[in-house]
Amino acid sequence: MTTMHRLNATQQGGPMALTTVPKSLPDTDEVLIRPKAVGLNPVDAKSLYYGAVVPSWPIVLGIEVAGIVDSVGDNVTAFKPGDEVFALSTRIINGERGSAFQEFVAVPQQFVGRKPVSLMFEEGASVAVAYAAAVSAIVNGLGLSIPGLPNPTNPSTSAPTPTSILVIGGSSACGGHVIQLLRQTLGPSAHIVTTSSPQHHAYLTTTLGATAALDRASAQLPENLDELRKAASGSADGTGFDAVVDCVGASLEQPHLFGALRVSDDDNAPPKVYAQIFTGPTDLAAPEGVAYRRVMATQLFNGPEKGAGVFELFGKLLEDGYKLPVEVEVVGSGWDAVEGGLLRLSKGVSRTKLVVSV
Ligand SMILES: NC(=O)c1ccc[n+]([C@@H]2O[C@H](COP(=O)([O-])OP(=O)(O)OC[C@H]3O[C@@H](n4cnc5c(N)ncnc54)[C@H](OP(=O)(O)O)[C@@H]3O)[C@@H](O)[C@H]2O)c1
Repeated sequence: MTTMHRLNATQQGGPMALTTVPKSLPDTDEVLIRPKAVGLNPVDAKSLYYGAVVPSWPIVLGIEVAGIVDSVGDNVTAFKPGDEVFALSTRIINGERGSAFQEFVAVPQQFVGRKPVSLMFEEGASVAVAYAAAVSAIVNGLGLSIPGLPNPTNPSTSAPTPTSILVIGGSSACGGHVIQLLRQTLGPSAHIVTTSSPQHHAYLTTTLGATAALDRASAQLPENLDELRKAASGSADGTGFDAVVDCVGASLEQPHLFGALRVSDDDNAPPKVYAQIFTGPTDLAAPEGVAYRRVMATQLFNGPEKGAGVFELFGKLLEDGYKLPVEVEVVGSGWDAVEGGLLRLSKGVSRTKLVVSV
């Protein structure tokens, strides 16, 4: 085969159109993946409908994939043709050949993981971005070391270990990973409080391990800030959290949420950390005394450890009872199904990941 199909987003708002281009070849450090399923990520919808991170049209979108290795570059030893893999795959790293919505996807090897055998390809395609963003939030945002990973912590972000953490958006794909990884990292005594719609509270506490779940609608009202601060009852004084992980960019519209952090009487105490999985379009405007850390999924793989062990750890965690945090819904089969899926995603999902089989 010398050509392949590629799905172009022709202009803002669509339509998307299938084109035929020369088949990609892997560079020396790349794995060439033939997708069996692709995940539809919020950033794809933001790109298609709002032009977010789109330098020019047409463009190939897609940042998460699961499939079969077609071929590998000369420096790749961890994967071989025929392996079943999942990956974070984006044109931000290696141009359009790295975008997920095409028949062959070129991915630098550190962004590729072995698909756990217990997962279908559709489930595998739901994992890489949200999981990596969650790991990054804990490692680069909170400055913590996750057990089982080589220590890729950026020393400049290290902070005292928090005992009381607020995870905003626990029912998002990122949020469900953050809750579980925080529990792994901090142990049973940590007080992990999350926000979501009420129908997810039982799942987030009983299955994913949050200590408590609060109604997101209530948390986003400034007049309920005192109540939110008191929910941090695992903190030293019960009046505010040691750290926040914001998985949905909530403080862009509700800046009072910065007030969920406990204020210290000690002038020399380090500022409390508010880690945000970056949702765009701008950084959150944190008040003085708050250490705002914007984190990206890709940041993990660009650090000194290049993401070593991150996806291997995911496979081990699954064997030990770790859960896919959200329901995986297959919205269709074939590249034609991507555009309809993105339209649906742009209208909002609730503890659900949309994927397309290809
Ligand atoms: N920078 C990066 O590297 C990176 C990586 C991954 C994701 N992201 C970004 O992070 C965000 C989350 O991604 P995702 O895939 O995890 O999203 P997702 O699963 O599609 O998010 C949907 C969930 O968000 C929840 N939610 C929305 N607004 C909320 C609020 N104000 N308070 C509490 N919950 C709220 C909803 O909760 P309920 O249904 O319970 O109401 C819903 O379950 C997106 O903006 C995405 O673009 C960035």
